[in-house]
Amino acid sequence: MSQTKRIGILTSGGDCAGLNAVIRAVVNAASRLGWEVYGIKNGTDGLTERPLQYEILTVHNFSDTPWPRISGSYLGSLNKGVKMDSLEEISKRFGEGAKTLGLDAVVVVGGDGSMNIVSNYCRNAGIKMIGIPKTIDNDTPITEFSVGFNSACQVCTSAIDSLDATARSHNRALILEVMRRAAGHLAMHSALAGGADVCLVPEIPYTIDGIINKLRDIKTSGRNHAVIVVSEGIKTEDGSHVTGAKNIIGENVYGGIGQYLSAEINKRYNEFQTRVTVLGHIQRSGIPTSFDRALAAVFGAKAVELLAKGENNKMVVWEDGHVVPYALEDVVKQGTTLLNTNSDYVKAAVSLGMYIGEVKK
Ligand code: F6P
Repeated sequence: MSQTKRIGILTSGGDCAGLNAVIRAVVNAASRLGWEVYGIKNGTDGLTERPLQYEILTVHNFSDTPWPRISGSYLGSLNKGVKMDSLEEISKRFGEGAKTLGLDAVVVVGGDGSMNIVSNYCRNAGIKMIGIPKTIDNDTPITEFSVGFNSACQVCTSAIDSLDATARSHNRALILEVMRRAAGHLAMHSALAGGADVCLVPEIPYTIDGIINKLRDIKTSGRNHAVIVVSEGIKTEDGSHVTGAKNIIGENVYGGIGQYLSAEINKRYNEFQTRVTVLGHIQRSGIPTSFDRALAAVFGAKAVELLAKGENNKMVVWEDGHVVPYALEDVVKQGTTLLNTNSDYVKAAVSLGMYIGEVKK
C-alpha cells in the first residue's frame, strides 16, 4: 500500500462538460481513504505561478452545491500552448509548488496535449501522476471515450436538429461548423446522429463538386433543404488553411471554413441559399450527459484506486466496457487519435447516403 496522503487535482486544456463530476468522484474516493485533496486552480498555473493558487476540497464542495450537474471547471482550466524550451524552468516551478503544498501525487484531467506536457512536469519534478482523459474532441489516445465528448455531441446534434427545422422553412442548405482542429470525431458522430446530408472531416479529402452533386441529388429527389456539418479543421479544396492566424506557439488557429464553403458553393450552384452557423464554445458547455457523468465517476474512482495501489505515470482508459490503466508514456507516444476512415462510423455515413468526401469505395 502506498503512503499517499495528500493529492492534487487539476483540470487542463479546453474545458468540457463533466469535469466537475470527475473532481467530485476523485474527492469522494480520496476522502474515503482519509486523504486530503488540494484543488489546483487554473490548470498548471496554480502550481507554476506565485502565489500558489489552490483550494482544499472536501466532499461538501460537491454535495452541498449542484456542481457535478453543470459544465465548466470548478477549478478553472488553461488552454495555452507551452514552448518546449521552457519545459525545464516550468517543471521546476511546478515541482516546487507541489512540494510546498506537500502533494504526493497529482490527478490531471486533460486531453492529449495536457497528458504530454504535465507528465513531463511531473516526471522532471519527481511527482506521481495519474491522468483522466477529457475532451470534446475524443482524440485522446487509446481510450475509446474521453469525458465531455458525449455531451458535446449532444450539443452539436441539437444544433443540427434546430438547423434542419429552419432549413425546411427557407429552402436552404445550412452549414454547421463544429470544433476540433485535426480530428473529425465530433463532426462525424453528430452528423450521424442528426442525419446531416454532408459531413466534412479533416481525415477525408473532399471536393466542392462532391458537395454540389449531393445538393443536386437532394433537389432532384424533391427535397428543398439540407444540412452540412463541417469540422473547423478541414482545409480549403486546394489544401490551404482558411486563416493564416497562429497561436503563441505557432499552431494554426481555426475557424472560417464554413464561410469559405458557403461562398464556394454559391459560386457554382444557387438552387439553395446557404447560411453558416459557427457553434463555437457552446460545444464545451452543454449539460453533462448521463454517459459523461457516469464515465467521470468511474474514471475518478479508478484514478484514486490506482494511487492507493502505488501506481504512477498512468492514464485511465475506457476499453471494451472496462476502465484500465495505460502507461502515460504509451499514451503520449501515440499522439492524437484521428477518425479511422475505415471505421463503422464512416461506413454507416456512406450507407446513409451522406457525402463525406472522396472515400475509397
Ligand atoms: O481541444 C478542445 C478545443 O475545444 C478544440 O476543439 C478547439 O479547436 C480548441 O479547443 C479551441 O481552443 P480555445 O478555446 O483555446 O480557442
